[in-house]
Amino acid sequence: MSVYVAGGRTSKFGTGALALGVALALPGVVVAAPAAPTFTKDIAPIFQEKCEACHRPESIAPMSLQTYEEARPWARSIKARVADRQMPPWHLDKNVGIQKFKNDRSLSDDQIATIVKWVDTGALQGDPKDMPPLVQWPEGQGWNYAAQFGQQEPDMVIRSNEYTMAAHAQDAWDKRQTPTGITEPKWVRAIEIRPATVKGRRITHHAIAYLQQTEPDGASAAGFGLLAPLMEWAVGKQGEMMRPDTGKLLMPDSRITWDIHYSQAGEEITSAVELGLYFYPKGQEPKFRTSLALVPAALGDMDVRPNQITVTQGNTVLRQAARIESFQPHMHLRGKAMMMEAILPTGETRVLSYADHFNFNWHNTYVYADEVAPLVPKGTVLKITAWHDNTPAMKSNPDPNQWVGWGDRTVDEMAHAWVNITQLSDEDLQAEIQKRRAAQPNTQQP
Ligand code: HEC
Repeated sequence: MSVYVAGGRTSKFGTGALALGVALALPGVVVAAPAAPTFTKDIAPIFQEKCEACHRPESIAPMSLQTYEEARPWARSIKARVADRQMPPWHLDKNVGIQKFKNDRSLSDDQIATIVKWVDTGALQGDPKDMPPLVQWPEGQGWNYAAQFGQQEPDMVIRSNEYTMAAHAQDAWDKRQTPTGITEPKWVRAIEIRPATVKGRRITHHAIAYLQQTEPDGASAAGFGLLAPLMEWAVGKQGEMMRPDTGKLLMPDSRITWDIHYSQAGEEITSAVELGLYFYPKGQEPKFRTSLALVPAALGDMDVRPNQITVTQGNTVLRQAARIESFQPHMHLRGKAMMMEAILPTGETRVLSYADHFNFNWHNTYVYADEVAPLVPKGTVLKITAWHDNTPAMKSNPDPNQWVGWGDRTVDEMAHAWVNITQLSDEDLQAEIQKRRAAQPNTQQP
C-alpha cells in the first residue's frame, strides 16, 4: 500500500522512555555564533524578522524590541526565554516529526546561539551605521488576504460582542455566540481573525472561533468532533488559507462560539474580534473538504493525581483516506507535552509532531507545509499522547496537591488535539501521492 508520511519517524521507544525523553529534551545549543555579536549588526535583523510582529508599540507583547534602548534592559530575560525556546512561542521538539510548516516563527539554532552570545558578551550596541532601517508596520487594521483575491474586504465579516477590559484585572475569557446569518451553504477558501480596533491588539491575547452547525448528512465532520473550530488565532498569526481545491463548508444555521482571551494593558480598552471569511465563487466549489476534528487523548474523563506526571493516550481510526493539515495541542495549566503519531495500516508508526514544551498561554496551530502534510490511507490510527505535570516543577501549576479531573475550567484539565483533516477518496489519495513523487523525485518514500 502506498503511503506518504514525510518527515515522520518510526517511534523507537515506549511510553515510559518517552516520558524520560521529555525531561531530558532540554535544547543544547552548539552552533557557532559571531565572536561578539552586536545589536545593530546581528540582533536587530533577527528581532525584526522574529519578534517585532508582537514586540512593537501598540501590540500584544509587554515591551517593544525595535531599538537598542528598548531591548537592552531585557537582555537577561531575552536570553532565558530564547534559550529555553519559549520565545518566540513555538513549542515543538525540533528533532522529532515533521519540521516544515507554513507558519513557522521559531528561531534557528544559529539565531538562538547568536542571541545567547550577544547577552553573554555584554549585550553590545555596535556601530549605529550597521543598524537596518526600521520596519514599517501597518498602522491600520488591513485584511491580509483581501488583495490576493482582488478585493478590499473579506466576503463576510462576523464581529464578536464588545468587551471592556479594565486597566488592571485578571485575564478574562469571552465565550459568547454570534450567528453567521448566511442563508445557503458556502465554501470557505480563507479565514482571518483580527482585533476590531488597533488598541484591541493590546488586550487580545488569543481568539478562537468555534463553528457550530448541523452537518448536511447529520453526522459530525470527519466522523468525530464536538465543536468544529473554524480556526484558531493567536496574536502574530495571519490567518488560514486553504490548500488548492480545498475548502471548509459553512452551513446556513452556523453559529460562531468565541473563545477570546483578554489580558490587561494598563488602561481601560473596549474592543471586539472580527472574523473575515473569503468564499469560493459559485461554480468553483472545491473538490476536497477540510474539517477541524477533535482528536482525543482523553475526553470526558481524566485522573490527574497530585504530585505526579500523568500520561493519557487515545486512538482514533480514520475511516477514510486523508491529508493531515495541522496540529494544535489542547491542554490546560498542567499540560506539559503532547505527541501525535500515525499508526499506518502496515503497523508502522510515525511521529508526526511532538510539542515537548507546551505552554498553556499559547494556542499554537502548527500548519504543515504543502509538500509534507501527511497523506494517509483509510484505516490509519491517529494516536494522541498527552503528559500532564501535576508537580511543583510545572511553573503554571497553581497547586500540585490538588487532584484534577477533566473539565472546561482552566483549573480542570483537557487532553486533545485539534487537527484539520481533509477527506480523500482512495483514488484521490493515490493521485496526490503521485503528484508529490513527481515533484520530489529524490525524496525517499515509504
Ligand atoms: C506571537 C507574538 C510574539 C512573538 C513572535 C514574540 N513574543 Fe515575546 N512575548 C509575547 C507576549 C504576549 C509576551 C508576554 C506573555 C508571555 O510571557 O507569554 C512575551 C514575553 C516575552 C518576554 C518576557 C518579558 C518579561 O516580562 O520578562 C521576552 C524576554 C520575550 N517575549 C522575548 C521575545 C523575543 C526575543 C522574541 C523574538 C525572538 C519574541 N519574544 C517573539 C509575544 C511574542
